[in-house]
Amino acid sequence: MQAWNDYQSQNKDRFLDELLDLLRIPSVSADSKYKADVARCADAVKDSLLKAGADTAEICATAGHPIIYGEKIVDASLPTVLVYGHYDVQPADPLNLWTSGPFEPVIKDGKIFARGACDDKGQMFMHVKALEVMAKTNTLPCNIKFMIEGEEEVGSSNLGKFLEDNKEKLKADIVLVSDTSMISMEHPSIESGLRGLAYMEVEVTGPNRDLHSGVYGGAVANPINILCKMIASLHDDNNHIAIPGFYDKVQELSDAEKKSLNAAPFNQQEYNEELGIGEEWGEKGYSNLERTGTRPTLDVNGIWGGYTGEGAKTVLPSKAFAKISMRLVPNQVSGEISDLFARHFESIAPKGVQVKVTAHHGGEPVVTPTDSIAYQAAAKAIQTTFGKDPIPTRGGGSIPIVALFEKTLGLKTVLLGFGLDNDNIHSPNEKYDVANYYKGIETIPYFHKYFAEMSK
Ligand code: BES
Ligand code: MN
Ligand code: MN
Repeated sequence: MQAWNDYQSQNKDRFLDELLDLLRIPSVSADSKYKADVARCADAVKDSLLKAGADTAEICATAGHPIIYGEKIVDASLPTVLVYGHYDVQPADPLNLWTSGPFEPVIKDGKIFARGACDDKGQMFMHVKALEVMAKTNTLPCNIKFMIEGEEEVGSSNLGKFLEDNKEKLKADIVLVSDTSMISMEHPSIESGLRGLAYMEVEVTGPNRDLHSGVYGGAVANPINILCKMIASLHDDNNHIAIPGFYDKVQELSDAEKKSLNAAPFNQQEYNEELGIGEEWGEKGYSNLERTGTRPTLDVNGIWGGYTGEGAKTVLPSKAFAKISMRLVPNQVSGEISDLFARHFESIAPKGVQVKVTAHHGGEPVVTPTDSIAYQAAAKAIQTTFGKDPIPTRGGGSIPIVALFEKTLGLKTVLLGFGLDNDNIHSPNEKYDVANYYKGIETIPYFHKYFAEMSK
């Protein structure tokens, strides 16, 4: 649409500056030190929606960080798209590995470097700017509602209640989310599934106090040694997860599904080189794309205990800890997997130690249909702006609220992501290509147009 192109090209510098302003606010949801910044960021998002042309936008307080709700209703008889995104970000540490400040965005080689550049401020804000493009050119083809949360990175624990309490307000025909990746600008793709998550913390206690590792060493079980051995036993020699019952509900892909999944362009050697790994790793019998897209995992996210300061201290510690996550695939259930893990972990502990297992947040896996009107509209939008049909892929990450959209609101989701796997999300030097940001703003209005047309 000419009007859209004109409006975007006349305002592109401002569109970028406004995103940079948003990235300057350190909206780290996990750290209470940033509570006021998170609130300030929510205000900024609300204001941006009003400026973009929303009829209304409001801050909705929760037991945690606020949710922003906004809408522009053109005509009750038209379809309604509910846009979901998050304005909170992951903590920036380790700070010393950033080449520029995480909350001082800079543009280098056409990439915006900042925490949240891709996940998810950059991607969420594309929708605000797309609204502006459509609203200011009087071409909005459907009704749009926005629900932007501030607790995605800490498990969305208050959003479920918000859905329950606001079913009427959130009535829509589809949920549209840009918080995932695509293969590349040359190979646009749409994720048609997300993995679920079960996140555990374990504490292993040995002796009732720290001991001299010479005086007692060799005669008392060291909880860190024991924890390492227990963790190592959770994968067998084929890198299969060795928790009884873990795979009971996992479905194998059909040959046709495998074929289509593996048809996506992927180069194992480039992958290894880019990550600086000598060779790939994973469950025997599965390709890399199958491993990340369709198979469950178990990973230690952090492990600590004993002395980790400067120099050497000889100590046989009393306690050892680890945070362990499991990515889940259809039809695994987060609560069931947490229970299986806890029971198994307790059962493999030797008598010399005590084990405490606690479950953190979880989320259910989802598969989004590729034969729906909404998926077809997204595919046609990509085809229009990239000149290529998107490749359907399966994402390895998790957005737990997507399963609740279906359960609570009865709504399916389209994952129209413009990030790249190497955008360093959750990692130092997170980036988002300026070109992807602009391409997203260009593509999103076509989704609304085609979704409205195809829904007739
Ligand atoms: N945007 C990500 C999820 C994602 C990234 C999906 C890339 C697909 C491709 C999201 O913000 C995220 O990080 N989710 C967490 C889960 C949450 C419960 C902390 C995750 O996947 O670890
Ligand atoms: Mn995200
Ligand atoms: Mn994230």
